[in-house]
Amino acid sequence: MTSETSPRPFATPSEIREAGEDIPSNTAANPTMGDIIGARWSRRDILRGSLAVSAIAATVSPLALTAGRARAGSHPESAFDFAEVTAGSDETHHVADGYDARILMRWGDPVTAGAPAFDPMNQTAEAQAQQFGYNNDYIGFFPIGDDETRGLLFVNHEYTDAHLMFPGVAVVTDDGVTIPDFTKEMVDIEMAAHGGSILELVNSGDGFEVVADSPLNRRITATTEMHLTGPAAGHDRLKTAGDPEGMTVLGTLNNCAGGVTPWGTYLMAEENFHGYFKGDLPEDHPEYANHSRYGVPGGWYEWANFYDRFDISREPNEPNRFGWIVEVDPTDPNAVPKKRTAVGRFKHEGCETVVNGDGRVVLYSGDDERFDYVYKFVTNGVFNPDDRAANADLLDDGTLYVARFDADGTVEWMPLVYGDGPLTEENGFASQADVVIETRRAADLLGATKMDRPEDVQPNAKTCRVYCMLTNNTRRAAGDENAANPRADNAFGHIIEITETDGDFASTKSTWDILLKCGDPSVAEVGASFSSATTENGWFGMPDNCAIDADGRLWVSTDGNSAKATGRTDGLWAVDTEGEARGTSQLFFRVPVGAEMCGPYFTPSGETLFLAVQHPGDDGPSTFEAPATRWPDFSEALPVRPSVVVITKQGGGRIG
Ligand code: FEO
Ligand code: CA
Ligand code: CA
Ligand code: CA
Repeated sequence: MTSETSPRPFATPSEIREAGEDIPSNTAANPTMGDIIGARWSRRDILRGSLAVSAIAATVSPLALTAGRARAGSHPESAFDFAEVTAGSDETHHVADGYDARILMRWGDPVTAGAPAFDPMNQTAEAQAQQFGYNNDYIGFFPIGDDETRGLLFVNHEYTDAHLMFPGVAVVTDDGVTIPDFTKEMVDIEMAAHGGSILELVNSGDGFEVVADSPLNRRITATTEMHLTGPAAGHDRLKTAGDPEGMTVLGTLNNCAGGVTPWGTYLMAEENFHGYFKGDLPEDHPEYANHSRYGVPGGWYEWANFYDRFDISREPNEPNRFGWIVEVDPTDPNAVPKKRTAVGRFKHEGCETVVNGDGRVVLYSGDDERFDYVYKFVTNGVFNPDDRAANADLLDDGTLYVARFDADGTVEWMPLVYGDGPLTEENGFASQADVVIETRRAADLLGATKMDRPEDVQPNAKTCRVYCMLTNNTRRAAGDENAANPRADNAFGHIIEITETDGDFASTKSTWDILLKCGDPSVAEVGASFSSATTENGWFGMPDNCAIDADGRLWVSTDGNSAKATGRTDGLWAVDTEGEARGTSQLFFRVPVGAEMCGPYFTPSGETLFLAVQHPGDDGPSTFEAPATRWPDFSEALPVRPSVVVITKQGGGRIG
C-alpha cells in the first residue's frame, strides 16, 4: 500500500497506550474495575460539598475508614522526610515544598552544535534531527570525574504524538482525534523525533545546565545506522533488501526506559516496535506466527506508506530487527550503536544493570504486555573497572533467563538456551539465534509466569533485592490469577520484590514477595495494600518506572493516573521498603494534566533528580491548537512540550 497521504486511525498512540491496548482495533467492552473506580471518582467531583461526605462514606468499607482516620502524614519510621504534595490534577507540575523543579530540555530545544531554534509552525525533519526529540522517557546520567560537576545525560524519545506536534492537521470528531492527511514530511519529522539524545551537562554551582554545542551532544533517530551483534547478527531472519548481510539496521524504535552500564554506556530499550509496521503476510509465511506473537503489524503509524521497510508484505524480516536492547557509547559521537541480540527480543520496557559480587553484570528487563514475562541476563565475562574498552562487548556473551514465580514464594530463573529442554529443532529452534529472535515463544515453552504487564525491573545493589513494576492487566479474568498476579481485572497494578539468594544477583533460584498492591486503599474492593500511614495523597495506581536513590530508597513513577481514573495525575512517589514503614508511599512530584511520569534518575550523590514529563496535555480530544495545557511555556505561540525537569533541594543536600 503506497499513497501520498493516508488517515491516521482514530486512536492516537497515546490513547492506545493509555488503554493498555496493543492492537487499536481490539476494544474490550466489559466494564472493568478501572471503570467502576473511575465512575466513583467522577461522582466525587459532582458530590463535592456537604453531601459528599456521607455519600462517600456509604461506599467505603469500615476497614478503609479506619485507615483513613489513621492517616496523619508519614510513618514515624519512614526513610523519607519531606512535606507531601497534594494529589490532584491541573495544568502544571508540583514538587514538594523546599525543592526547585526547573525545566532542563524541551521538545525542539537545540541539541547538536549549530542546531536551529525551535519553530513549531515550520518544523522540518532536518531541524528535528538536531533538536531534542518528542516524548522524553528514560533518563540516565553518567558523571565525568568524581565531583559531579560534569556528566552525560541520556534521554530516550519513545514515540510521537502527531496531533500535538503538527499545526492544522488534527480533526476532532465524536470518535476522537484523527489526522486525515498524513504527509511524508510529517513522517520524516516523526522519525527524527524518535530515538534518543545525549547531552553534556555542567554544574557550576547553580545546578546542571546543558553545554550548548558540546561535541558530545548527539541525536539518535529512527534512521541512525546501527549494528547487530550477538547470536542473531547476520542470521537469515534478519536480512532485508536494504541489508543483505543482516548486520546493519536503520534506527531504533519506541525507546521506552533503558539503563546505564557500569562502564558508562547508554542502553535504549525498544518497546512497542510492532506499532510501526503495516501490511499482511499469508498465514503459511515462515514469519507469520512469530510476528503474531509480537502483535506485528500494529498499524499505529503511517511510516509504511512512504518506506517499504515498514510494510511486512515487502520486508517480512524487518520487524525482527527491532525489539532489542541498543547500547550506545556516549563518549564518541560517531560510535555506531549496537543492538545486543544476546539480551533477547521482546517489548523491553527497560534494562537496568548491576555488578554482581563476582564481577559479572546482571541486566533486568520486563516485557510490557499483558501476560508477558520478567527476564534477566547474566554476562559470562566480568566487568573491568580499570579498562573501559575491555567491557565493550560484555553484553554479547551471557545467559538470558525468564522468571517463573512459584506459589511457595520462590522464583525459578529458567535459562533460554538453545538445545536445553524444549528449545530444540523439534520446536523450530535451530540455533540460539532462533531462541533470541523468538524470545517470547521460547519463554512460553519453558512455562514462565504470565504477568500483569511487567515494566521497570530495578535492582537495588545495597540490599540485593529487585523491584518489579506490574502496571495493570484488566484482561486477567477471575480464575486466571496466580500467586504473583493475585488480582483479576487488575486495574491498578502491583509491585513485586525479588530477593536474590545470598547476595547473588546471578542466582537461578530466588524468593519473591508482593511489596504493594496499588489503587485507592479506601475502596475495599480494590484490595490495595498501602500501609495505613499512607495518606490520601500517597497512594497511586499503575506503577511504571522506578529508581533507587543514593540511600537505597525506592521511588516509583506512574503511567495512567488521571482525574477520571484515580482523582490525580501521574507523579513520583517515595515508597518505604524497610521495617515498620514498609508499604508507606508519599507523593513528591506530580505532572501536568495529560502527562505520564517517566525517567526518574538520581545522580550518585542523591542531590539531583532528573524527571521526564511525557505526553503532557494529551487529555481528552487534545490537539496542537487546543491542548489540555500549554506546559511548560504557557505561551499561545508555543505548543505543549514534553520536557525534562531537574530537581534540587533549596540550599542543597540530598533529595527526599
Ligand atoms: Fe513505554 Fe511500558 O511503557
Ligand atoms: Ca512509561
Ligand atoms: Ca507504561
Ligand atoms: Ca528505572
